[in-house]
Amino acid sequence: MTATRGLEGVVATTSAISSIKDDVLTYRGYSIQDLTEQSTFEETVYLLWNGELPTADQLASLKKDLAENANVPEQLFDSMRNSPLEHVHPMAVLRSAISTLGIYDPDAEQMDKASNRAKAIRIQASIATIVAGFARIRKGLDPIAPNPKLTFAANFLYMLNGRIPNNLESGMFDKALILHADHELNASTFTARVCVATLSDMYSGITSAIGALKGPLHGGANEQVMRMLEEIGSIEWVDDYILNALENKKKIMGFGHRVYKNGDPRARILKSMARAISEMNGDMHLFELSQKIEKLMKEKKGLLPNTDFYSATLYDSLGIDHDLFTPVFAISRTSGWAAHILEQYNDNRLIRPRAEYNGPRLRRLLPVQQR
Ligand SMILES: CC(C)(COP(=O)(O)OP(=O)(O)OC[C@H]1O[C@@H](n2cnc3c(N)ncnc32)[C@H](O)[C@@H]1OP(=O)(O)O)[C@@H](O)C(=O)NCCC(=O)NCCS
Repeated sequence: MTATRGLEGVVATTSAISSIKDDVLTYRGYSIQDLTEQSTFEETVYLLWNGELPTADQLASLKKDLAENANVPEQLFDSMRNSPLEHVHPMAVLRSAISTLGIYDPDAEQMDKASNRAKAIRIQASIATIVAGFARIRKGLDPIAPNPKLTFAANFLYMLNGRIPNNLESGMFDKALILHADHELNASTFTARVCVATLSDMYSGITSAIGALKGPLHGGANEQVMRMLEEIGSIEWVDDYILNALENKKKIMGFGHRVYKNGDPRARILKSMARAISEMNGDMHLFELSQKIEKLMKEKKGLLPNTDFYSATLYDSLGIDHDLFTPVFAISRTSGWAAHILEQYNDNRLIRPRAEYNGPRLRRLLPVQQR
């Protein structure tokens, strides 16, 4: 038995949900380019869960289901109010909230197909309300009730900021949700599949996935990108900051990828959106700073931006608090996690790999008095 560090290159399952081939990302055979140009997040959710794009009636039915499930138990908000707001990270709150949501679902332990689909809808619908609600609670404000007339993307921004976003804002956010919806066997998706392959329930699977997404080598990178942009501050400090970090063998957040070696296709779309919204807001500072970092990283390390790099500028321009960037990623990725959980249940086998042992050889145990 020989271990592969980080399971690099290991094919751990088959899946018909998303594919990364020749640096092209597809969901169920549709390129993310086409999906962002010609569909919506709700259509993408339907596609991921059902394998086909919805008809108009199927889409209307999904939207109705999402709207009807967007209210969360008030106890969730109470427990947020009672949390140590001065230091708690929103991803920790989200991880606990999804777990708690499961406690209030009487069907949480039902494992038939219909119950699992109902849970997927409940979690997808609730997660936006939870993230936006917490963002307001920690500012001493009351959560805003979901507006069933709005799209999923517009409704989140509305519950977060208290105003209905304009079409450009909600359209860009909708595309960002599509781009982050699924990504083959990334760390959090793998985590979710490992969890539910024990036949544990969907709330446990999504809670585990949130824990994995939180890390800065995965979804947590987008918040760290913003932190770096703030630390650099001015364009004239880019060289100094980046060269110094590279000399000290520090990772530059938002660069590099385990699978993409010629650039992340999501990053290209996010870059063009980050440019457009910066132009609309008449503030190019973060975008220009980011572009300079991109150029330098390519020159010095041959590394290209990943999905987290320009999403930081985009989310900042949409008025989203920096520590909510990863929870926003989770809102979108819930659709992919749920699709993978449903697929795992459909043809389940316990996921239990082996480890190459490199500890002490078999040895004699001495009773405690003789040690
Ligand atoms: C994504 C990531 C974890 C992939 O890691 P990986 O496949 O294990 O690749 P490695 O960490 O082994 O990197 C390979 C080489 O590139 C370098 N490298 C990779 N990403 C780097 C980064 N962001 N900044 C600086 N150097 C980087 C490594 O130091 C290593 O160099 P070396 O061979 O000289 O030691 C890694 O690129 C990273 O940490 N990026 C920053 C975090 C991030 O943006 N995560 C979001 C991913 S979508």
